[in-house]
Amino acid sequence: MQLHSPPPPAPPATTATTTSPFLKEHTRTTLYIIIITSFFSLFFIVVLPFYPTRSHLPTRARPDPFLFPNRLSLSSEIPFEPAPPSIAYLISGSSGEAGRILRLLFATYHPKNHYLLHLDLSAPQTERDLLAIAVQSVPIFRAAQNVNVIGKADYAYPRGSTPISATLHGASILLRLSSNWDWFINLSAGDYPLVTQDDLLHILSYLPKDINFVNHTSYIGWKESRRLKPIIVDTGLHLLGNREIYYATQKRDLPTAFRLFSGSSFSILSRSFIEFCILGTDNLPRTLLMYFANMPYSLPNYFSTVVCNSHQFKRTVINDNLQYIAFNQSFMTKPHQLSSAEFDAMILGGAAFASAFAFDDPVLDRIDREILERSPGKVVPGGWCLGEPGNRTCSVWGDADILRPGPGARRLEKHIVELLTNGRFHSRQCMVE
Ligand SMILES: *[C@@H]1O[C@H](CO)[C@@H](O)[C@H](O)[C@H]1NC(C)=O
Ligand SMILES: *[C@@H]1O[C@H](CO)[C@@H](O)[C@H](O)[C@H]1NC(C)=O
Ligand SMILES: *[C@@H]1O[C@H](CO)[C@@H](O)[C@H](O)[C@H]1NC(C)=O
Ligand SMILES: *[C@@H]1O[C@H](CO)[C@@H](O)[C@H](O)[C@H]1NC(C)=O
Repeated sequence: MQLHSPPPPAPPATTATTTSPFLKEHTRTTLYIIIITSFFSLFFIVVLPFYPTRSHLPTRARPDPFLFPNRLSLSSEIPFEPAPPSIAYLISGSSGEAGRILRLLFATYHPKNHYLLHLDLSAPQTERDLLAIAVQSVPIFRAAQNVNVIGKADYAYPRGSTPISATLHGASILLRLSSNWDWFINLSAGDYPLVTQDDLLHILSYLPKDINFVNHTSYIGWKESRRLKPIIVDTGLHLLGNREIYYATQKRDLPTAFRLFSGSSFSILSRSFIEFCILGTDNLPRTLLMYFANMPYSLPNYFSTVVCNSHQFKRTVINDNLQYIAFNQSFMTKPHQLSSAEFDAMILGGAAFASAFAFDDPVLDRIDREILERSPGKVVPGGWCLGEPGNRTCSVWGDADILRPGPGARRLEKHIVELLTNGRFHSRQCMVE
């Protein structure tokens, strides 16, 4: 059941080097075959990396050697610090949100990371093409070759099972795009970082690479069971252009074959856990996928249930997703939009990300100015930027392994140390209440 989209229009040829991937049927077909043979039939996917392919521009076949110098010659030296890890980001949005996705990409950019941008099926193909062209026009993205746009999008209706499918789709593409990232983070267009990537990568470099940051609780009160017992059908899985969810008249009991853990849709997942979910031989992730297919709000509960029911992974989970989110006092389950009034609370909490912001809210400009030191339309300067001091263009770059952590790293460190202090860490880990 492949979702056919109309043939994409040819994007305007802006410069000589802007070759459009959407026209490269050859690349599309090859990738399509590779991917389709490897994943189960739920995910019919085509990824269109829009970088010029090897055959077209051989000089672009490898990322810029200035960013990634050959480190072998240094291997005899004793390193002062652990090598920085790398994060794979899936940044998703829907129709009209290409601008927000780009802003979030600039705010979370680091040449060591990998980025996959997903404009869901509610957005027209032209918006996707324009996003790809916008990304292609940024020199550092071309040099590091680490930003891709999903050409064949999925539905990601917030309430049904399509967000799980879209998230696993993105994660599986990222697994294929690069073998060297360590954590997976799924951001939506309303999220924003509260630390620089240099801060985050610096702190993560001191942690074991199998750690997962996942909010979870096995406590299920009446409110939650109202969300967990109904049976739904997400029509985004089988109907074209008709996004809707309908409820069955019957409800089902809570499961007894495994324990349900509810959580939140934002999490920071280790590569080994993502591989377990997508490529693993243990059938738990697929069994649960089938179960969650008919649950409203399945994404917030899927990863927390998989991780806590797995003997292999339940010892790797920290019960905090490093995200600042404020719940509406009168509606405890409903997060409210963040504003300048909460700036201090947000920053002092030591979280790495916050959600949810309104489009171009002034508080985002304040975060750019005071926390990220980012100018509009530019990436966050980091240790890899070699421009003059005060010259934030990052138009001259060097070794991407050099980090320049700032005050954000200290806030994050304090927060993680609190989480890891003995009593708190184990006593809150996949506890059966
Ligand atoms: C990613 O996470 C956000 C919440 O941060 C969620 O709304 C979204 O559905 C998730 N998945 C995708 C593919 O967007
Ligand atoms: C995740 O857990 C932290 C710590 O328990 C909590 O402060 C935060 O509100 C939770 N987030 C969500 C979305 O439940
Ligand atoms: C909480 O939700 C109600 C109803 O949606 C809204 O009127 C109120 O402004 C919200 N409070 C905050 C702090 O966002
Ligand atoms: C920033 O550095 C670049 C490269 O050295 C240079 O071309 C540009 O003029 C500088 N900009 C400012 C404002 O100093």
